[in-house]
Amino acid sequence: MEENIQEILLTEEQIQSRIRELGRILTEEYAGKDPVIIGVLKGVVIFYADMIRQIKVPCQMDFMWISSYEGTDSTGSMVVRRDVTADIRGRHVLILEDIFDTGNSLNFVRSHLLSKKPASLKICTLLDKPSRRSPGVTLQADYVGFTVPNAFVVGYGLDYKEHYRNLPYVGILKPEVYEH
Ligand code: IMP
Ligand code: MG
Repeated sequence: MEENIQEILLTEEQIQSRIRELGRILTEEYAGKDPVIIGVLKGVVIFYADMIRQIKVPCQMDFMWISSYEGTDSTGSMVVRRDVTADIRGRHVLILEDIFDTGNSLNFVRSHLLSKKPASLKICTLLDKPSRRSPGVTLQADYVGFTVPNAFVVGYGLDYKEHYRNLPYVGILKPEVYEH
């Protein structure tokens, strides 16, 4: 597994230290607001587990699972495979995401959740790859862990064909491992 990693981009220590910083900011932001913290499956699970423990306020956990619509060539059409179970109307919602790439996923998740009329909706992404943004996507993340270059990264929840999620760091996959 690790022989397919070209370079470690973010070590465990760098990730944990940034999560503690974000935790201090989010703890202040959400004090007294009892937020619903929504993770977008599956890539977010590792980040989610670490991040939520640094947001030291009463809060509720929930998850959404979305995927690209089968049979189309990734034109950005998405479906909800598993919706949130919490009633988020009038609640403060924080979305946690693993990576903000083209932005199609977050755009979709954001509109889907906004239609449920939350009191507020913010986005926190571990990684941001701004160079890959789709032209139509204007939304921005409110909180970003790290801005990363335009390379395919895996580990710390991020996959290539469902593998590498359990690497404790974020690394760049060797280009010869995947075909584009
Ligand atoms: P977006 O809709 O293009 O912003 O992509 C979001 C989703 O694509 C993420 O939640 C990831 O599952 C996946 N993704 C995008 N870039 C990468 C990457 O570099 N490594 C692994 N997964 C990625
Ligand atoms: Mg993925």
